[in-house]
Amino acid sequence: MEKNDWIKAIAEGELKEGVPAVIEVEEKKVLLIRSEGKIYACGNECSHYHGPLSDGLIAGHVVTCPWHNARFDIRDGRLLAPPGLNGIPSYETKVEKGQVWIRQTGEGMIAMPEGEDDRTMLIVGAGAAGNSAAETLRREGFAGRIVMVTGEAYGPYDRTMLSKDLLSGEAPAKWLPLRGQKFYERLKIELLTEKPVTAVDPAGRAVTFADGATMKADRILLATGGTPRTLPVPGADKAGCYLLRSRQDAEAILSELETAKTALIVGASFIGLEVACSLRTREIEVHVVAPEEVPLANIFGEQIGRRIRKTHEENGVIFHLGETVKEFTGRGRVSEVLLSGGSRLKTDLVVIGAGIRPAVEFLEGSGLVKEGAIPVNARLESSAEGIFAAGDIALVPDAHGGQPRRIEHWVEAGRQGMHAARCMLGSKDGYAGVPFFWSKQYGSSLRYIGHAPGFDQVVFRGSVTDKFFLAGFYVKGKLAAAASMGKARELIRLGQLLEAGKSVSPDQLEDKNFDLLSM
Ligand SMILES: Cc1cc2nc3c(=O)[nH]c(=O)nc-3n(C[C@H](O)[C@H](O)[C@H](O)COP(=O)(O)OP(=O)(O)OC[C@H]3O[C@@H](n4cnc5c(N)ncnc54)[C@H](O)[C@@H]3O)c2cc1C
Ligand code: FES
Repeated sequence: MEKNDWIKAIAEGELKEGVPAVIEVEEKKVLLIRSEGKIYACGNECSHYHGPLSDGLIAGHVVTCPWHNARFDIRDGRLLAPPGLNGIPSYETKVEKGQVWIRQTGEGMIAMPEGEDDRTMLIVGAGAAGNSAAETLRREGFAGRIVMVTGEAYGPYDRTMLSKDLLSGEAPAKWLPLRGQKFYERLKIELLTEKPVTAVDPAGRAVTFADGATMKADRILLATGGTPRTLPVPGADKAGCYLLRSRQDAEAILSELETAKTALIVGASFIGLEVACSLRTREIEVHVVAPEEVPLANIFGEQIGRRIRKTHEENGVIFHLGETVKEFTGRGRVSEVLLSGGSRLKTDLVVIGAGIRPAVEFLEGSGLVKEGAIPVNARLESSAEGIFAAGDIALVPDAHGGQPRRIEHWVEAGRQGMHAARCMLGSKDGYAGVPFFWSKQYGSSLRYIGHAPGFDQVVFRGSVTDKFFLAGFYVKGKLAAAASMGKARELIRLGQLLEAGKSVSPDQLEDKNFDLLSM
């Protein structure tokens, strides 16, 4: 199909209001939808991991992907919210003699803006937030200088893949980069690797690098993510004990997996459980040690936590819950682990998943950090004018008047990066995103939207046992978050309610006959 060719798509009568139709045009899937009386067409594949947008939710002119909630504008294919990077193909439509015709108008790619701008934007950190900010600056038409620096040897890559498909062997390392070098060259984004920043001068809007060089910028975005915590336990620094945050960490673990027969994971939160799953895929014997009795119960409640544990046990994981590690022992490298209950476990390697602390050490004395994080206003600007922060390091105000929060999720970091970029260009809008995350274990995805650290009630629709459910987390009768396996549309809808500051009662959420989608 040439870009300007009209293609006969579908009989108009087949398109019902709000019900998507998918057709194939030269091996590309095209989504057609009649929304509020108008007919739209756009690509049906999400630009993140190719999720089928027709299985997501379309509200007005916005389609939300069912897998990780990227959002696109169906009118022009524009990316509205990460984790997608590109937009999606866009089409114009016309109706003639009862037939819908479509013609492609765009590919969804970011173009290098024309014109001149003498401002410099410096982005410190090339992770989810930093990369999204750099791309957004160009998408928004900024033609000036963009410099993105990272302390790591690699440019932006998909960190979420490290504990999942990379360690399991299902994804090769070549799938990790978010973009190729040519992309940054085309968009004139200067990407500097192995260039850690060691100090920031907020008044001068300047940074110092480890090699002694300095750089001034008109706007600076700080997006340095997290530093994994180790354990204050003898032997935790022995060879064979690993943390997992970076691609380099993952490569070091991978190099052990060809020969390892047994692994011990410390921590039963997301990283620990995803690594356990990946290592079981390789048929390595896996032990998980954690102080809590039920994994992830603090986030999902006991019922979902127990289901997660059972799934792992069904796949051969051996839990040592209610226990901590007293000591890692072994000559030269770790070979045995002493637990608080007195038992000793032999192991070939250890992976410690004990959480992170925001990577803000280099900001000591800058006045930007409070209690280990960077407080920002609704525009994601720090206490210093022109210096912004996003992602795992940023303490962000709640749009609905709740407590400020620091979120450690990939999608949230990308969205904050996008918002920060717009504010660096002068937008006065406040950040109103609702956090979203997912975890994938043994082929099933568990998705969560909202923020409910102190929930006092959980209600369910569907079956946790069958891994097909929607759960609502309430604080004093008000919906604060929701989780789901398999009910993507309802979860997206609840996210939209949360974003609008609305709720749905526990009775309504529980009642399978109550139509959440038409609320
Ligand atoms: C293994 C793993 C799996 C995960 N899986 C999921 C998941 O499934 N779903 C989910 O929602 N979240 C997941 N997360 C969390 C998610 O990856 C983070 O919340 C997200 O990456 C945070 O983005 P960020 O941009 O704030 O920081 P990061 O992505 O960590 O990026 C920080 C960047 O800053 C650089 N940097 C740090 N210090 C300096 C310095 N001094 N100077 C210059 N550069 C510096 C780093 O090199 C890096 O480039 C996972 C995390 C890990 C480690
Ligand atoms: S596949 Fe669409 S958001 Fe991930």
